[in-house]
Amino acid sequence: MLSRLRARVYFTVAAAAALLVGAAWLILGPISHSLHHDAAQLVSYGVVVGAFAILLGVVVSEALIRSLEAPVRDLQRVVTALAAGDQSARIRNVEDDELGELSRTVDRMATQIGARLDAMSAEEAQLRTILDSMVEAVFVTDPEGRIILTNAALQRLAGARVEGRTAVEAIRSPELHDAVALALRGVESSVQIETRMATESRVLAAHISPLPQGSGVVTVLHDVTDLKLADTVRRDFVANASHELRTPLTAIRGFAETLAGGVQDPVLVSRFVGRILEHSVRMQRLVDDLMQLSRAEAPDETFVVEPIDLSTAVARALRSVEAAAAKKRIKLQTDQAIAGVRVLADERALDHVLINLADNGVKYTPEEGSVTVRLRAAEDGWVYIEVADTGGGIAAPHLSRIFERFYRVDPGRSRDVGGTGLGLAIVKHLTQRMGGEVSVESSLGVGTVFRVKLRVARAES
Ligand SMILES: Nc1ncnc2c1ncn2[C@@H]1O[C@H](COP(=O)(O)OP(=O)(O)O)[C@@H](O)[C@H]1O
Ligand SMILES: [Mg+2]
Repeated sequence: MLSRLRARVYFTVAAAAALLVGAAWLILGPISHSLHHDAAQLVSYGVVVGAFAILLGVVVSEALIRSLEAPVRDLQRVVTALAAGDQSARIRNVEDDELGELSRTVDRMATQIGARLDAMSAEEAQLRTILDSMVEAVFVTDPEGRIILTNAALQRLAGARVEGRTAVEAIRSPELHDAVALALRGVESSVQIETRMATESRVLAAHISPLPQGSGVVTVLHDVTDLKLADTVRRDFVANASHELRTPLTAIRGFAETLAGGVQDPVLVSRFVGRILEHSVRMQRLVDDLMQLSRAEAPDETFVVEPIDLSTAVARALRSVEAAAAKKRIKLQTDQAIAGVRVLADERALDHVLINLADNGVKYTPEEGSVTVRLRAAEDGWVYIEVADTGGGIAAPHLSRIFERFYRVDPGRSRDVGGTGLGLAIVKHLTQRMGGEVSVESSLGVGTVFRVKLRVARAES
């Protein structure tokens, strides 16, 4: 703009000078003789005056243009900086003219835009935080169904960045694909999908809603895999428990009906009564274990964790399996290190844990073997109470499952020795309720070691 102005001013000055010289020529030419000068002399005067006028005009207009140039360049620099995102650029022109006014307006606009941008980025940060703190995975797509926004939960679920991909590329599920397509046409829906994410298969409850004006869809995914699993476990548990109860019940009923039918032979009568007794003992044990397990799992069941003398508890547990051990000539041993040690535990829970482990040791160890309770130091403030036997051991594939309810390596054998399959599940839950944990190590043909980790009670407590 300024260079055009400059060209125009120069042109105007030159034209004005030419006009001036031309006019002088026209006016002075005819009267030159009366002025006692010859025409040539007058012309050279005219040229000098004209040149001087042009020079003066150029100097004056250059000064004028320069005075305009500085503020205009300032304005241009600041507007360019603002456009490039520099929110701190300001003109600070204090002149009381039109340019000054324009500059101040630009400064005000820059301040307003800055404030608005700040508010927007604060809002965006807020939205990000909300999205990322959500348990549910969320993604938003554009009108073509490409993902444009996600949250941290979705990244975790998908195990990779998914922006720019379509929903079905991020989460492989035909149902989700159909639901997103439907939402792009304005229809909201909910579907439950099963899909393989990163490494494992997950069950997701998805809610897909259209955004206003067909501008995309927002999908919220809730991972219900664990809920589903818990549901399956619960159903399996009920089925297992019913089955375990029905077997002795059917037997009892069978013998009772036979007796009711009138059995004369006293030998048969006493045998049947004996079987009824045996099966009712089994039922009793099962019901006792079920109740214990339910108590161990009940959140409102109170556990009083206090310093308990370990040697007394171990002696109690071993006493309760003494008779069974004697029958199989199994040696019961206690490590000397236990004497005087106190652990933080609920007395009843600790008893159940130790009795269950000692009972298993005796049950699954052949005659002449041994069951030993010993102490090992764990990290600072903790100990391992180990129950080790010289039994047949447990094969590796079973090790991770024996703490499940009703899981037995050999169900027939377990039943024969009066097992319910619940003992280790009870041990696990009770130990956890006391803040500890239980683990197992076993080698086939050598024996098994169950390790209960508990906190040691400090001397003063
Ligand atoms: N000390 C052990 N040695 C060998 N196998 C064991 C031992 N303890 C537990 N098991 C295996 O783990 C299974 C589950 O144990 P548990 O929950 O106590 O049930 P059970 O009522 O059968 O004893 C047992 O059936 C048995 O197969
Ligand atoms: Mg057991």
